[in-house]
Amino acid sequence: MKESLDAIFQRRAVKVFEPVEISEGLREQILNAARHAPSSFNAQPYKFYWVQSEATKAAVATLCLGQKPAATASALVVAVADLGSLSATSQAQLEWMRRSNFTAEKIRDYERKAKIGRILFMPGPFGIFAAIKRALFRLLNLRMVMGMPPLSRQDLFKWATKSTSLACQNLMIAAEALGMNTCPMEGFDGRRLSKYLRLSGRRHEIVMVIAIGKKSCTHKEPPQWRRPLEATVTVL
Ligand SMILES: Cc1cc2nc3c(=O)[nH]c(=O)nc-3n(C[C@H](O)[C@H](O)[C@H](O)COP(=O)(O)O)c2cc1C
Repeated sequence: MKESLDAIFQRRAVKVFEPVEISEGLREQILNAARHAPSSFNAQPYKFYWVQSEATKAAVATLCLGQKPAATASALVVAVADLGSLSATSQAQLEWMRRSNFTAEKIRDYERKAKIGRILFMPGPFGIFAAIKRALFRLLNLRMVMGMPPLSRQDLFKWATKSTSLACQNLMIAAEALGMNTCPMEGFDGRRLSKYLRLSGRRHEIVMVIAIGKKSCTHKEPPQWRRPLEATVTVL
């Protein structure tokens, strides 16, 4: 517990890295920690591209606007909100439940929820379903307490981005705990980077790029400023 807190408090956005190699074992530990993050409906709606080969790293660093953390990192992780994986993920979970001897009732329950999820999470052509569903939900909401599911493609990307970001944070904390440093980056050319990775605009959105490496001794750490607790918290 203490070590997790240490990693959280030690982590900083590091701007210059030393050239060190990240072993396959370390890479796996970092990525495993990322995928253990909680996600909405356990849908894990993301994909990580781990970029380590020199040529690809240089190309991705250029698309990160040539930022120093990207240019000096040992690896770059492109975190992508992925709407294309949803049905395969629920299918894989269903197969896992069958193999793990879940009761027939639990499996039926999951199948029912997955079916509802598929209907709810389908924006349809030109967002037509989304508009119909929105009107329907607004009407229902006048009569009962209910949450609004993500309806348009934009809502869906926003929904997927939340879970993707939590996985990114797990990844950074794990890297820190394992003796590495990171820098999350939003400064990238999303259109060109998506094209470079052959992503689909309908299914994928790059959430952030994380530079990973070992902090260089030339990196000057600025003091860390945060808003005071009272400014960020309301205790009711
Ligand atoms: C979503 C997000 C995007 C960021 N984008 C960049 C970036 O493009 N380049 C950069 O140098 N730092 C970037 N940062 C790092 C922040 O500047 C940094 O986290 C913040 O200043 C606080 O510093 P600390 O993380 O060292 O406490 C980003 C951080 C987040 C969470």
